[in-house]
Amino acid sequence: MIIQFCGLSGSGKTTLAKKVKEHFDATPFNIEIIDGDEYRNNLCKDLGFSKEDRHTNIRRLAFVAGKLAKYKVVPIICAISPYEEIRKEVVAKYRDVKTIFIKCSLAELIHRDTKGMYAKALLPDGHADKIKNLTGINDPFEIPENPDLIIETDKEAVEESAQKLVDFIEKNVKANL
Ligand code: ADX
Repeated sequence: MIIQFCGLSGSGKTTLAKKVKEHFDATPFNIEIIDGDEYRNNLCKDLGFSKEDRHTNIRRLAFVAGKLAKYKVVPIICAISPYEEIRKEVVAKYRDVKTIFIKCSLAELIHRDTKGMYAKALLPDGHADKIKNLTGINDPFEIPENPDLIIETDKEAVEESAQKLVDFIEKNVKANL
């Protein structure tokens, strides 16, 4: 099984993936987090944030996930993945892919603004520090049409969200062993 997360920056994807990994570290299941930020610092260093580059990014992350999934590892692709087209491509190309939407309102994300990126994207046009293609503000995020699970991080405590993910993985991994 491969899990592909999608959700805006700051929605909690990496935090939740880490919690889930911690849980499974104490069991025979292995989780590998394939994190957008981490891969953009190495394997995907050449990529920016155009639609084409985001597609290439997700294709590369999914390729790594596909390799790992052969060895009874559950890879979690932890990236914004804003386009339905590429999420569907991943589902079609690899075996047993589950799409999980890490959902959070924009108001809450702007409030959290852990990386300070929302404030920069909301700067007036022409400002030297303005980010011009931040997903959810001035770049598209397509709501997934048919996610296998939705986690609402603005409505649930972290532990509750992490537990839902753990339950989902346990149920689906066992069903496919
Ligand atoms: S994706 O769109 O290709 O799936 P990915 O998850 O790998 O994106 O990278 C998103 C991370 O890149 C964000 O968490 C943030 O740290 C950083 N980032 C920098 N610029 C942008 C931008 N314009 N839009 C989204 N994320 C950005």
